[in-house]
Amino acid sequence: MNNKETLQTYENGLDAYVELTPSEMGNEFGLFWENQLKRFDSDSNILEIGTATGRTADYIESLGYSVDRSDAAHAFVDYQKSLGKDAQLVDILDIQVEKQYDLVIAEAVVLHLTDDNFLQALSGVRETLMKDGVFIFTFKSGEGEEVSTHKMNAPRYFNYWSENEMNDIVKRSGFKVLESGFFEKAHKWLYVTAQKTQI
Ligand SMILES: C[S@@+](CC[C@H](N)C(=O)[O-])C[C@H]1O[C@@H](n2cnc3c(N)ncnc32)[C@H](O)[C@@H]1O
Repeated sequence: MNNKETLQTYENGLDAYVELTPSEMGNEFGLFWENQLKRFDSDSNILEIGTATGRTADYIESLGYSVDRSDAAHAFVDYQKSLGKDAQLVDILDIQVEKQYDLVIAEAVVLHLTDDNFLQALSGVRETLMKDGVFIFTFKSGEGEEVSTHKMNAPRYFNYWSENEMNDIVKRSGFKVLESGFFEKAHKWLYVTAQKTQI
């Protein structure tokens, strides 16, 4: 199953996704973003890939930052616009944006990419970042890949990595890992904070 088919599930399932996704950022994730954002000035250029309902962008904006929202699913871009937010169509596999960013974030997005697609995404994110720019992303730890109809009642592709595996991939792709680790309460969820290096 490829990423396009997963995106089709999001295109068709906007209502279900919005209904099943808590609108408020959980405490643990809120604290996480608060700590991560301390590295950045409030006028930093921030791009979110896979914004979906806008929960993360909303939270980061509540901290005084501004976030360029994007998603590869038209349905989510239109949904953001219906809420009065600016949003653009950006596919992490072929990032076409007009500026370079200090920070790119992708929460629960790369888990929908195959290993090869993920390398492609890292290369694109790297190009999108300014010198010393940072990519922060979350994913679910585990092994292998699967197609699941959980939550959306339609198929989505999921890929899992361990923290070590992920850190090796990121380091081989022109990034330095500044931080990585598990969320304490969010079962199996991991994050990586990676800084673009010169190669
Ligand atoms: C599990 S949802 C996470 C949404 C949101 N970031 C959150 O944490 O609530 C995955 C998101 O990734 C987006 N997505 C999937 N493949 C993508 C791609 N190739 N490029 C950009 N976004 C993608 C989906 O449209 C969806 O919004």
